[in-house]
Amino acid sequence: MYEKLGKAAQYIQSIKTSKPKIGIVLGSGLGVFVDQIEDKTIIAYNDIPHFKKTTVEGHEGRLILGKVKGVEVVVLQGRLHAYEGLPMDEVVFPIRLLAILGINILILTNAAGGVNLNYRPGDLVLIADHINLTGKNPLIGPNNNQMGPRFPDMSHAYHPELLAIMKSVSQSLGNNIHEGIYAGVLGPTYETPAEIKMIRTLGGDMVGMSTVAECIAANHLGLKVCGVSCITNMGSGILDQKLNHDDIKHEAQKAMNHFTSLLNLSIEKFGKL
Ligand code: HPA
Repeated sequence: MYEKLGKAAQYIQSIKTSKPKIGIVLGSGLGVFVDQIEDKTIIAYNDIPHFKKTTVEGHEGRLILGKVKGVEVVVLQGRLHAYEGLPMDEVVFPIRLLAILGINILILTNAAGGVNLNYRPGDLVLIADHINLTGKNPLIGPNNNQMGPRFPDMSHAYHPELLAIMKSVSQSLGNNIHEGIYAGVLGPTYETPAEIKMIRTLGGDMVGMSTVAECIAANHLGLKVCGVSCITNMGSGILDQKLNHDDIKHEAQKAMNHFTSLLNLSIEKFGKL
């Protein structure tokens, strides 16, 4: 795995030598954020050695180097999910690659279903913590001590300092930004109404099929992580409506202005850390 990561990193650096400080993963329907990047170098996942191609519609599959508010970033437009049938070390390969490229801060974004009854589609939620309901973990197997410890601490999985900065930025942007717990499920089915009730009982505020594995791999590597969910729908059974991927992408796009302001302002502040 380490050798594969080295080859992938070498390829990217042969196209552009850069030392990004911040990595950003864009979730379903949130890819338009790419328009905010200046001085872009775009690399298709297909062209990067050992990088798996995403199979999900609405996920572009491009790695972009550039600047946001003058801060060097590397952006993953489109991510890999366990439900695509990939082994977990493939799912988190892109996160490990960003770490080799030099990031020390990782911003995870996703589309999620609202479980907390105070949320509405279009709201943004800062991820305060997660609950791993996937039954999977990307660190299963022999530990690579070069990457991180066998038993990583997860008590600050979403970094308090980054969360505090995002909270202060949110306050300047209006009141439909919450702070909540992300429940990560495997998918690809949306949940049943009974599962949504269970997740609420367990303490989840929103639910989605990504982010948890990436957060675990990033913490293992010692990166500082933060995350934002865009509530694209209420969880199954809360409203009298069926869930489909097209509606979810469309709702994410509607929240785009709000999402873009939150990310731009946060990146500017993270750049000064
Ligand atoms: N459930 C799981 N994943 C999701 C949802 C949902 O309701 N909405 C967007 N991603």
